[in-house]
Amino acid sequence: MQAVVYRGTDKMVVENKPKPKIIQDTDAVLRITSAAICGSDLHMYEGRTDVEQGKTFGHEIMGVIEAVGSAVQQIKVGDRVVLPFNVACGYCYNCLRGFTSACMTMDESPGAAYGYADMGPYEGGQAEYVRVPFADFNALKLPGKPFDEHEDDFLMLADIFPTAYHAAMLAKVTTGIPTAIFGAGPVGLLSVMSAKILGASDIYLVDHYKTRLDKGKEMGATPIDMNNGDPVQQIRDLRAKSPQTEALRDGESILTTGVLAGIDAVGYQSHDQDDMSKEDHTQVIDHLSELLLPTGAMGLIGVYMPADPGEKGPAAEGKYLLPLGTLWNKGITIGMGQCPVKKYNEQLRDLIIAGRANPGTIVSHHINIKDAPEYYKRFDNREEGVTKVVIQFK
Ligand SMILES: NC(=O)c1ccc[n+]([C@@H]2O[C@H](COP(=O)([O-])OP(=O)(O)OC[C@H]3O[C@@H](n4cnc5c(N)ncnc54)[C@H](O)[C@@H]3O)[C@@H](O)[C@H]2O)c1
Ligand SMILES: [Zn+2]
Ligand SMILES: [Zn+2]
Repeated sequence: MQAVVYRGTDKMVVENKPKPKIIQDTDAVLRITSAAICGSDLHMYEGRTDVEQGKTFGHEIMGVIEAVGSAVQQIKVGDRVVLPFNVACGYCYNCLRGFTSACMTMDESPGAAYGYADMGPYEGGQAEYVRVPFADFNALKLPGKPFDEHEDDFLMLADIFPTAYHAAMLAKVTTGIPTAIFGAGPVGLLSVMSAKILGASDIYLVDHYKTRLDKGKEMGATPIDMNNGDPVQQIRDLRAKSPQTEALRDGESILTTGVLAGIDAVGYQSHDQDDMSKEDHTQVIDHLSELLLPTGAMGLIGVYMPADPGEKGPAAEGKYLLPLGTLWNKGITIGMGQCPVKKYNEQLRDLIIAGRANPGTIVSHHINIKDAPEYYKRFDNREEGVTKVVIQFK
């Protein structure tokens, strides 16, 4: 079968690999219909992780079950399913508590995923087939037929829709809460969708790519272009002018100087506001620390790696200087980490089925697997308009 394989920094190659087999009785083999390229894949592509050469990437996967092991009870050959990017057992201490993102039995350290650095030996799904461990637990059944009107919507359930929703939960977004989202990539855009579902009042979306900000505006956010200056000040200026200020009581004017919920949908490769060609690893955390109001909450859903081969000094070991004093003084809650996709994917699927969410709207390109290396490059260059790329196996 054909697979998109990592061959060193900035080098993805389409290679032939053997089709996966059932290894354990609890496995299934999935014939893939759609697989997305994720911003998380780019950290590996850019050589900013210790992922090994020869690995097939791809953790956003859906398709049709091709084969099942003898112990698989619920999932049947022919079922249309989407896989959470987390590979989980379903029976360990953490899985039982809902934290499939920290499953204790699928890798040496907690948490496993398809085709990802330091997340176990599992091959990715930017390929024609993938092996699915513990298929009954991991595969989420879907209605309809491959390539119907919900193919892209359902594919977003593998990772970024639940991930964005989790970010909004970590940031404690709820009815009437003003919210700022940094990063208008796929995760940031679906954070806008999630914040709307959860009832946020104002939603500010920060980035410096026009097409991504335009998409965010179309989805209901107020776009904040970093090219026009400090995003924190831009948001403060907008809040000070908001009609909400008329209804404030004496002493409440501080409410116009920030937001209560903040989402970091960027992570450790964030660009420096003063020179966007450079990285400033803690740029977004610094901005959110300024912008968040006392008692607010921050969801760090963008990735921070424990080791960064592209860096020197403390950052090489994932050590960053944080404005802890400011955060402590304001009593800010911080949530972070990999999303436990299974906690949300079934409910979010049902929102899609009910016509109340359309996360597939962010997909910009459908490609053939042979074009995957080219689209890795274009997505990595953040080429205007290349927002979310899906490999289709038609
Ligand atoms: N925690 C999880 O479970 C999980 C799951 C999926 C993705 N992620 C992570 O989420 C992050 C976003 O993923 P994506 O697919 O949207 O990636 P992406 O790289 O396409 O998007 C990131 C966006 O952030 C913008 N940006 C860079 N610096 C910025 C700054 N200082 N302020 C505001 N915006 C800035 C970029 O211009 C880009 O548009 C990545 O770090 C990815 O690894 C985490
Ligand atoms: Zn992903
Ligand atoms: Zn487990």
